[in-house]
Amino acid sequence: MTQIIDGKKISAQIKDELKERVAELGRQGVKVTLAVIQVGADPASSVYVRNKKNACAYIGIRSLAYELPEETTQQELLDLIGELNDREDVNGILVQLPLPGHIEEEKVLNVIRPDKDVDGFHPQNVGALCIGRRGFVSCTPAGIIQLLKRSGIEIAGKECVVVGRSNIVGKPMALLLLRENGTVTVAHSRTKDLKEITKRADILVVAVGRPRMITSDYVKEGAVVIDVGIHRNEENKLCGDVDYESVAEKCSAITPVPGGVGPMTIAMLMNNCVESVALQQSGKVS
Ligand code: GUN
Repeated sequence: MTQIIDGKKISAQIKDELKERVAELGRQGVKVTLAVIQVGADPASSVYVRNKKNACAYIGIRSLAYELPEETTQQELLDLIGELNDREDVNGILVQLPLPGHIEEEKVLNVIRPDKDVDGFHPQNVGALCIGRRGFVSCTPAGIIQLLKRSGIEIAGKECVVVGRSNIVGKPMALLLLRENGTVTVAHSRTKDLKEITKRADILVVAVGRPRMITSDYVKEGAVVIDVGIHRNEENKLCGDVDYESVAEKCSAITPVPGGVGPMTIAMLMNNCVESVALQQSGKVS
């Protein structure tokens, strides 16, 4: 029987655990606060931002929403981040991506104080992950590690293949699997004989951004398959990068789309917000 890895259930458990930790921090007089900045009104971003605010409300995190007009200048955005960096009552700062074309994403992400960078996108946090220091980890790959651990799937010693090398998912995913003592290969659009490589995987993480590209002939019998993709198919139904029907018959465990990796990203963002309090108190990341 193939194990269906239930991201909805696992993310709900994590949120409930965080709710208790936030209540305990509240009893100690600490109010966890996340500032969420959105520039423009991209409809997909608006949905993500609303989901983040709802998760904050559920857990008891105070959220400050900054919904800035599309014409906001880069300097205005940098000034707002500067203010939030200095505010003692703000623990986390998140700038929803993508930003409008006239604003340089890299400049913006680089000015967020590393100990408030709950997305884990600042180079200092990426570097910390690389060399095994404490810091914030990008939420989607961190969520995948939780999915594996909480589903009783051992990573140490396993052949792990990550398909995709983005800064947000593929690269941090590879580093996290390595940190868990997996043997890691990163494949990408220029990889030769992709199938030969993915078929070696005990744990296959797919973040290629191509609907249902990974069919059963890419997968070893009994592998664990994690699907990061989310797309709408011809019938307007959600699907992932993995051809779920054929792969589910061959693998030992798989994440569905929706209800697999997706809900974990927000749960881990909430986790980073709670962690930010301790990081700021210890002064370990700044
Ligand atoms: N846009 C799409 N995914 C993300 C994310 O994880 N963080 C931010 N800030 N923006 C995004």
